[in-house]
Amino acid sequence: MARILIAGCGYVGQELGLRLVREGHSVCGLRRGPGRLPPGLRGFGADLTRPETLASLPGPFDVVFYTAGASHRSEAGYRSAYLQGLGNLVAALQGQEPPVRRLFFTSSTAVYGQSGGEWVDEESPAEAGHFRGRLLRAAEQVLLGGPIAGTVVRVGGIYGPGRSRLIDSVRRGEACCFEGPPRYLNHVHRDDCAGALAHLMGVDRPRPLYMLVDHEPAEQCEVLRWIAGRLKVAAPPRVPPEAGKPARGTKRCRNARLVESGYAFRYPTFREGYEALIT
Ligand SMILES: NC(=O)c1ccc[n+]([C@@H]2O[C@H](COP(=O)([O-])OP(=O)(O)OC[C@H]3O[C@@H](n4cnc5c(N)ncnc54)[C@H](OP(=O)(O)O)[C@@H]3O)[C@@H](O)[C@H]2O)c1
Repeated sequence: MARILIAGCGYVGQELGLRLVREGHSVCGLRRGPGRLPPGLRGFGADLTRPETLASLPGPFDVVFYTAGASHRSEAGYRSAYLQGLGNLVAALQGQEPPVRRLFFTSSTAVYGQSGGEWVDEESPAEAGHFRGRLLRAAEQVLLGGPIAGTVVRVGGIYGPGRSRLIDSVRRGEACCFEGPPRYLNHVHRDDCAGALAHLMGVDRPRPLYMLVDHEPAEQCEVLRWIAGRLKVAAPPRVPPEAGKPARGTKRCRNARLVESGYAFRYPTFREGYEALIT
């Protein structure tokens, strides 16, 4: 049995926590609103951006997951949720005895700036120009250059129960296929996100960096049309790029390292994942 802290215990963190409890581990879920945790998860109320609230962490912990997400999509929101919050948690855990075995940080595939449909993996340059990518990269470096053994997990777009925006937009007839360079969706189902994190915890000497996306970066329009077919509604129309916005493409993320580590996806592509949500 491991003693586990999930800092920022929200959509993914709760699923991960419940899974680890079922496996027999002792799990503490940290968030500002611990009263919102599901039954079965022990909560601890703290604000990762306020170091004084981390002074009485109920440790020691063997393994820590940092799965907090930014409450605001502004630069300040990203800076505090990722850079500041992660730095504060590392500082709070630094003197712990015995030391934390490993801290996993859920970063994002947004760190990549590639936009021409290129395949990217853990070895590819991650030099996104926007503040989201830059601040996530800076937070990754805080972890990997810090005193606690760390692993960065770059997660793609998470969908699952309660997060079915694409299905809803197709059902309402609001979805569109934009003309221009292909836009690939690098997605992962919530249960695979939690499943892969739990799996990595059990890997002997995990690597410092993993990509966490399913097997198939799928073209957005293909996904929308597949959903429309499944819902038996009209296929989304093809329209020019959004007014005033440049036509932009995306990258394709490769999950080979994670698969080689032994993780088997429950929802290998969007088809299995969306099928489960639709039915
Ligand atoms: N969602 C995606 O598509 C996506 C894509 C790529 C990467 N990721 C990353 O994957 C991880 C999990 O995503 P998610 O969707 O599960 O996140 P989420 O549900 O949006 O957020 C996780 C939890 O963090 C807590 N939190 C936020 N700020 C906090 C603070 N200052 N102190 C303490 N707790 C705080 C929030 O609870 P309280 O409000 O109660 O504090 C929230 O429930 C995140 O690190 C996210 O950045 C997500």
